Amino acid sequence: MNTSVIFILLHLGFVICQGANPCCSQPCQHRGVCMEMGADSYECDCTRTGYYGQNCTTPEFLTWLKVSLKPSPNTVHYILTHFRSVWKIVNNVTFLRNAIMRYVLTSRSHLIESPPTFNSDYGYKSWEVYSNLSYYARTLPPIPHDCPTPMGVVGKKELPDVKLLAEKLLLRRKFIPDPQRTSLMFAFFAQHFTHQFFKTDMKKGPAFTRATNHGVDLGHIYGQDLERQHKLRLFKDGKLRYQVVHGEVYPPLVSEVQVEMHYPPHIPESRRFAVGHEAFGLVPGLMMYGTLWLREHNRVCDTIKIVIEDYVQHLSGYHFKLKFDPELLFSEQFQYQNRISSEFNTLYHWHPLMPDDFHVQDEVYNYQQFLFNTSILTDYGVNSLVESFSTQIAGRVAGGRNVAPAVLKVAVKSIEDSRKLRYQSINAYRKRFNMKPYKSFEEMTGEKEMAAELREMYGDVDAVELYAGLLVEKPRANAIFGETMVEMGAPYSLKGLMGNPICSPEYWKPSTFGGKVGFEIVNSASLQRLVCNNVKGPCPVASFHVPNVKDSVTTTSNASSSHSDQNVSPAVLLKERTSEL
Ligand code: HEM
Ligand SMILES: *[C@@H]1O[C@H](CO)[C@@H](O)[C@H](O)[C@H]1NC(C)=O
Ligand SMILES: *[C@@H]1O[C@H](CO)[C@@H](O)[C@H](O)[C@H]1NC(C)=O
Ligand SMILES: *[C@@H]1O[C@H](CO)[C@@H](O)[C@H](O)[C@H]1NC(C)=O
Ligand SMILES: *[C@@H]1O[C@H](CO)[C@@H](O)[C@H](O)[C@H]1NC(C)=O
Ligand SMILES: *[C@@H]1O[C@H](CO)[C@@H](O)[C@H](O)[C@H]1NC(C)=O
Repeated sequence: MNTSVIFILLHLGFVICQGANPCCSQPCQHRGVCMEMGADSYECDCTRTGYYGQNCTTPEFLTWLKVSLKPSPNTVHYILTHFRSVWKIVNNVTFLRNAIMRYVLTSRSHLIESPPTFNSDYGYKSWEVYSNLSYYARTLPPIPHDCPTPMGVVGKKELPDVKLLAEKLLLRRKFIPDPQRTSLMFAFFAQHFTHQFFKTDMKKGPAFTRATNHGVDLGHIYGQDLERQHKLRLFKDGKLRYQVVHGEVYPPLVSEVQVEMHYPPHIPESRRFAVGHEAFGLVPGLMMYGTLWLREHNRVCDTIKIVIEDYVQHLSGYHFKLKFDPELLFSEQFQYQNRISSEFNTLYHWHPLMPDDFHVQDEVYNYQQFLFNTSILTDYGVNSLVESFSTQIAGRVAGGRNVAPAVLKVAVKSIEDSRKLRYQSINAYRKRFNMKPYKSFEEMTGEKEMAAELREMYGDVDAVELYAGLLVEKPRANAIFGETMVEMGAPYSLKGLMGNPICSPEYWKPSTFGGKVGFEIVNSASLQRLVCNNVKGPCPVASFHVPNVKDSVTTTSNASSSHSDQNVSPAVLLKERTSEL
């Protein structure tokens, strides 16, 4: 008989007789790749992991040395959040500061595969993963379909009921304010900024994105595609279309520019504003930022006449602060490309930030009154909203039970999507991002009650799902997030920011920004300036922090007299988020 036929038959035999996929137990450690080798046997590809052995568990000498010397993420976090006086000196010594920043950038972004390796339909490397930009990337491949349990080999045969899980562990009992005193100004900035690259394609499903530039492209301001951009453009002096209400500039009406926006039917045409992102009618906070950026764009065109040839080149630069100096990476091996991962989107569902209701001047609005209500923006004006959002404290994200009832369904959806995408457990992600897996439910939550609920629902700490885990995780001392959120989130963010072509050596120079003046604007962009340059009259303090003493919040026209970290750069998002540096 023909040998190849025998081979095929044998192979089929294996497939048929095979029990569970041996890779279901995720035996390969340290980013080793599991390969099925017929029935019940597997092989780990440990190439360039720094480890060897059956499961890539034995370190090579250099790896051993590095690992032995390397402090744990929590230790690093501790050092970075203490010893203020030492850091003061370090911050003042350019050489040291640059060296540390460079290390942070490279060590973090090396945790993100570039080019990408997986997506939700391909748990192995393939041309499709690389070339089909409609997919979000995946950092860990999906759990195979043919596994004994939904999480691989551990945990119960069925995952807990999502609604029950959400009600028991995620639903807010009483508002827990963020101890870092994050403001709503920050929350809406985060939402506004990230929605340019988190745009799940609801029609195709959670594996797909409509933001196929996979990064900071300012599609949320200018529109994703050329058609939308053209409709939003005035085609005069490089400006964007606008309308004037009460003597102030606001985004134009949908009926005037004919772009699609998502508003519920009861919103009259006269209140339907149009901006780059279809969904930004949702919250006045988003429309407020949309208005600020629109005014900024039109103002800059007015004065300095930066000719915007390519919107990517123009504004994404606003998001970089000197500390996040792209030049730091010019001497390093670094890929100037980026792919947004599904897991990044999932972990960014920071809905616990949202309060129970919204305080604007002396009024209190509930969700029903606040959502889709663009009148709030025009009735109060940008000044008032900036002031109000800068003084209302956001909710703590980690620590469990802090999702407002009005947005609980978003958390539910997030878990449902995670299951469709067959995410591995939070412990698998902890290992992937150089953290030790949690050994017990108590270690994960830092308490007993939710730990007991988790045990009942999941059975095994290695079976706890990613999103639920991130939200119930024990927060770091006086912090908004737990360890996993920061250690996973920071690499994605840094890679996303620094991987932008604008940061590459040929782009990061004055000529790209229309000369020295433009470059200066880009380099000195700050939230306070964005606000002060674009509101009428005295400008309010714009802050990502709610100051401790409420009385200190007064109007001022001096940007530098307020808080120290109000830079609008996404770098600051990160900084705020990681409380590092
Ligand atoms: C009142 C305020 C908010 C409301 C009503 C709201 C509501 C929603 C809704 C309905 C979705 C879509 C869920 C789905 O069908 O998959 C969503 C997605 C999302 N939200 Fe929020 N959200 C709010 C605030 C925030 C904030 C402050 C953040 C902070 C970062 C945030 C981050 C996200 C992210 C990352 C997504 C996924 C987007 C995508 O994949 O396209 N949201 N939100
Ligand atoms: C590798 O992992 C498998 C499954 O987790 C385990 O049974 C085996 O003993 C491990 N091998 C070594 C050398 O540690
Ligand atoms: C920081 O540097 C400036 C000059 O570069 C110096 O005057 C100041 O004393 C330094 N501060 C500290 C805390 O070292
Ligand atoms: C990407 O993959 C999806 C799902 O298989 C498919 O519908 C789409 O046509 C692909 N896009 C491209 C550009 O190949
Ligand atoms: C929208 O906000 C305005 C205040 O700007 C308020 O008077 C109005 O009642 C709100 N609309 C709804 C439907 O709650
Ligand atoms: C703002 O404050 C700084 C330092 O407090 C001061 O040097 C500057 O002159 C002030 N600018 C204005 C416009 O008041």
